[in-house]
Amino acid sequence: MHGPARLAVLISGAGSNLAALLAAIDADPEFGGEVVIVASDRSDAGGLDIARAAGVPTVVHQVGSYPDRGRWERALAADLRHHDVDLVVLAGFMRILTDVTLSHWPGRIVNVHPSLLPSFRGAHAVRDALAHGVKLTGVTVHLVDEQVDHGPILAQRGVEVLPDDTEASLHARIQQVEHELLPACVAMLCQGRLPEGAPGMSTSGER
Ligand code: GRF
Repeated sequence: MHGPARLAVLISGAGSNLAALLAAIDADPEFGGEVVIVASDRSDAGGLDIARAAGVPTVVHQVGSYPDRGRWERALAADLRHHDVDLVVLAGFMRILTDVTLSHWPGRIVNVHPSLLPSFRGAHAVRDALAHGVKLTGVTVHLVDEQVDHGPILAQRGVEVLPDDTEASLHARIQQVEHELLPACVAMLCQGRLPEGAPGMSTSGER
C-alpha cells in the first residue's frame, strides 16, 4: 500500500486551477493525491497566495534569476525531486519544460490547455480560436511530452463560442470547464485509472 500520490502544481498566474484542484482533493477522501509543493516562475503569481492560504509550501524560480534556462529548469526540477513528487500538474504554467524535467517524470506530467488540441496550441489559444471563427473550442487535459501543448490526451470537453464572445467571456466559460476536467484527470492518474492507450503511471516512487 502506498500513500496518496505526491503532487507538484506549477503555476504562472492567478491559480484558479490550483484552487479547483485543492478544493477537489479536500472534498474527496478517495482522491488519492495531495499537493506537496506549488512552484511558480513568477513571484507575483496570485496562485502563490492560494497555496499559502492552504498551507502548501511554495517556491519561486524566475528564469531571469539564472544565467540560462537550463540552470533554471534544473533548479526547479531539483526542488520537485526534493519534495519526492510523483506527479507534476501544469496549471497555467507558461514555460516550456524540456527533458531536464520530463526525464524524471515520464508520463507523469499533466497539462491543462484552453482549446481542443491539436487546434490552437500555444499561449494565445482562446484569442486564436476566436480569431479563427471556430464555433466550438474547449479544454484539453493531456500528458506532456517534449513538444508544446502536445502528448497523449486524457480528456477533452467542448465549449461553444457565442456570437458576442470576447476573449475574456470565452476564457471564463473555458475555465469553468478546466476547473472540473483537470481535477477529474488528476484524480484518475492518482488512482491509476488511465484511459485506454495512455502510458502507465506509477505512484510508487520509482524514478
Ligand atoms: C488557464 O486557462 C490555462 O488553461 C491557461 O492559463 C490559464 C491559467 O489560469 N494555460 P489559472 O492560473 O489556473 O487561473
